[in-house]
Amino acid sequence: MLNTLLTKAAAGEKIAMLTCYDATFAKVLALAGVDVLLVGDSLGMVIQGASNTLEVTMQDMIYHTRLVAKGAPHTVIMTDMPACSYEHDPQTALANAQTLMAAGAHLVKIEGGGEMVATARYLVENGVPVCAHLGFTPQSVEKLGGYKIQGKTEESAQAMLTDAQAMAQAGVSMVLFEMIPAALATEITQSINVPTIGIGAGAGCTGQVLVLQDLLGIYSGPTDKAPQDYKAPRFAQNFLQQGGSVQQAVSDYVQAVKEGRFPEDRHSY
Ligand code: KIV
Repeated sequence: MLNTLLTKAAAGEKIAMLTCYDATFAKVLALAGVDVLLVGDSLGMVIQGASNTLEVTMQDMIYHTRLVAKGAPHTVIMTDMPACSYEHDPQTALANAQTLMAAGAHLVKIEGGGEMVATARYLVENGVPVCAHLGFTPQSVEKLGGYKIQGKTEESAQAMLTDAQAMAQAGVSMVLFEMIPAALATEITQSINVPTIGIGAGAGCTGQVLVLQDLLGIYSGPTDKAPQDYKAPRFAQNFLQQGGSVQQAVSDYVQAVKEGRFPEDRHSY
């Protein structure tokens, strides 16, 4: 399944990805033609009500991957490796990645470039397909000083290009960019031979991803904060408003991504 998708992407087809955490939505998303279901550790926020992804465990990711795999047995599933499950050493990363694959993932996503390149290579060499997550990396939200656009300076843009190229050389199947300037995402996409997926990274990426609850317009921040204090990120779009049903909203998103109509400039940095 993953190879078929990569072949389609290489032939110029856009990839439509959405987060998914359970079997019912997995079925809806698969029927609507979503190419990749991301069992994201964003579940810490949208399912568990926390203010970040840092408390999500391997057990959480195994459980939700199983549910999604049950609902969509014929769709590519990408699962996030949660914080502290891969950073320490490549051997631990491999053992945890294999557990997620056994739960139903077809590839795993790890955050960071630099020192994570060796881990990505080790996973790939041992039969685990990898997506590298660059730009704003939510597991480092404290280190990055909040939800901030990355790659704005010439130096940080160059570092991201170098990281993406190193990840591609390490054999990753995809590179995901979160909250980076659209021009930088386009430049990197054109300079590496693996598909790129954007969230707040402009229309120049090979594909797009959104958090399902943002697409439905139902996420209003962590449970300990008042909903009126929450402001949806610039890159999010409520497709339910226009679509009228969940199924239609997801289909509209898939069509908009495939036809290059989403994201628009107003969603990008
Ligand atoms: O966990 C997640 O949902 C993600 C997306 C923001 C890309 O990593």
